[in-house]
Amino acid sequence: GRRFFVGGNWKMNGTKSEIGDIVAFLKTGPLDPNVEVVVGVPSIYLTYVTSIVPSNVSVSAQNAYKVPKGAFTGEISPAMLLDNGVPWVILGHSERRNVFGETDELIAEKVAHALEAGLKVIACIGEKLEEREAGKTEEVVYRQTKAIADKIKSWDNVVLAYEPVWAIGTGKTASPQQAQEVHDKLREWLSKNVKSDVAQTLRIIYGGSVTAANAKDLAKEKDIDGFLVGGASLKPEFVQIVNARA
Ligand code: 13P
Repeated sequence: GRRFFVGGNWKMNGTKSEIGDIVAFLKTGPLDPNVEVVVGVPSIYLTYVTSIVPSNVSVSAQNAYKVPKGAFTGEISPAMLLDNGVPWVILGHSERRNVFGETDELIAEKVAHALEAGLKVIACIGEKLEEREAGKTEEVVYRQTKAIADKIKSWDNVVLAYEPVWAIGTGKTASPQQAQEVHDKLREWLSKNVKSDVAQTLRIIYGGSVTAANAKDLAKEKDIDGFLVGGASLKPEFVQIVNARA
């Protein structure tokens, strides 16, 4: 079976004081030991959080560049993350795509390099509202997934996060049926275009306005293997989201 995975994406939030509160509720938990829990932390706090989180929580960066080092002012490489004991990175988040103009191509290059360097990757995909309304949801998520599939050698260290853009930070969560349908289609695509084994073992998690109130119903769907949580990952209810299947 696929181990349930819950990531908290803090985005550009948190002070040392607020991080202290988050780490306190993570420590108190209790967090279901069957769940893999990862927190996505602003880069300046990565080493600090790594030094204070409990051992059942792993730390992730929210971005990394596509080469190990060089003249790339402002960027951080996978090698630097690993050098600081950070095992995960979130890549391709819709905010990177839409606010910072990252393309499918660049994201795929970043995913490929991060995996080659030895990081584990939470790779994000998802359609915008106008794309869903135009009936293009599948076309968009297949295109985004194919860009990655074309460049990576193995999906072993990847978690795929389906995050419909219209659900992110809006309070408009996808219904369990809407999310399940896309996750199922993604497995079908992976089975045809990558490998049936990958389609069965890859964890596909859902993100977009996940809360303690909706997590349990989403977690009942057979192809939803966890969540990527934004706003609610800063609050104590994150513990209930981690425990959605408990
Ligand atoms: P919200 O949970 O705040 O909608 O954010 C989702 C997200 O973007 C997680 O990466």
